[in-house]
Amino acid sequence: MFRIEDIQNPIVDNFQRNGGSGLISILPLDNIPVDIPNSWKYKPTCMPVEYKSRAEAFANFKVRKDDIWIVTYPKCGTTWTQEMTWMLMNDLNFDEAKSVDITQRSIYFELEGMIPTDEWKHFDLLNEQKSPRVIKSHLPISLLPRDIWRKKCKIIYVARDFKDAIISFYHHFTGMTPYKGSIEEFIEGILTDNMIYCSYWNHVLEFWLIREQPNILFLTFEDMKKDLKTILEVTSKFLKKEYTEKQICSLVEHLSFDNMKKHSTCNNQGLVKALYAVSNYEYNEKTSFQFMRKGQVGGYKKEMSSSFIDRINLKTKELFEPYGLNLYYGDS
Ligand code: A3P
Repeated sequence: MFRIEDIQNPIVDNFQRNGGSGLISILPLDNIPVDIPNSWKYKPTCMPVEYKSRAEAFANFKVRKDDIWIVTYPKCGTTWTQEMTWMLMNDLNFDEAKSVDITQRSIYFELEGMIPTDEWKHFDLLNEQKSPRVIKSHLPISLLPRDIWRKKCKIIYVARDFKDAIISFYHHFTGMTPYKGSIEEFIEGILTDNMIYCSYWNHVLEFWLIREQPNILFLTFEDMKKDLKTILEVTSKFLKKEYTEKQICSLVEHLSFDNMKKHSTCNNQGLVKALYAVSNYEYNEKTSFQFMRKGQVGGYKKEMSSSFIDRINLKTKELFEPYGLNLYYGDS
């Protein structure tokens, strides 16, 4: 089903010396039953070595037709969109949102393929969950369960400016894994697709190409920041849910950065704790990595050098423009 190769180059060696995982490149060999233009050629995706033995199980996972999949490149607003979608699908159940952790309400599909573990808990948890499930994944089309395309499950895809996602990913990585490389080394690794879930550009383009299909909703982090109320209206319509103006306003409030950060069941610290446990780090509520970091648009300008900014803008323009995707190669 896949062609899998170990990635070996100086960036990866350096990365591993700094405590990062080994990496593979994985390319589908089968015919994926998704309606995407014939001209689109799947590219290999970079994944941790742990993914290798599980790739087929993930691709063969049997989905339910009424599943809703939240798919993103990492750090593009996944948690925010999970919380939004879970609330819309669950009659705005604020009580449950504030008592059950987001990691349990909306399961991270491939987590057990990303870390060293022998467990297969997530498949059991998913199978036990009542429908409709809201499932999180960062997998590109080529690695997602084939059944999603056969059953035409609803997918909410969220894109974010790569420059902001990179900076967010760098803090996530240095805060949650043994990785100790410099920011320059990290950016270089990610730009040359030597980082998990890369390539960012392919990830976004694939979903952009299928965005007009009725089961796909393509959103951006920046639009969510600009006008969350409108995004909630659009998403409710997509999910065939109806809410009053008052309810939508209360959901806007619930989804604000400050509010989500404040609530332990919404701020994704559950995932931080789980990843600390994998690395045998001691978790401290106050000093450990805060998942809800800044939540801003354009924050990269304070942390990324102008030469990296120019390089990313140039490559984004070169890759996105031919497909009519006029985002993320200018100022955010
Ligand atoms: P920053 O690190 O730039 O702050 P993901 O969930 O895909 O990993 O994305 C995490 C990013 O989304 C983080 O970005 C986080 O702060 C931001 N985020 C999460 N919830 C948010 C919210 N309610 N409003 C704005 N940004 C949010």
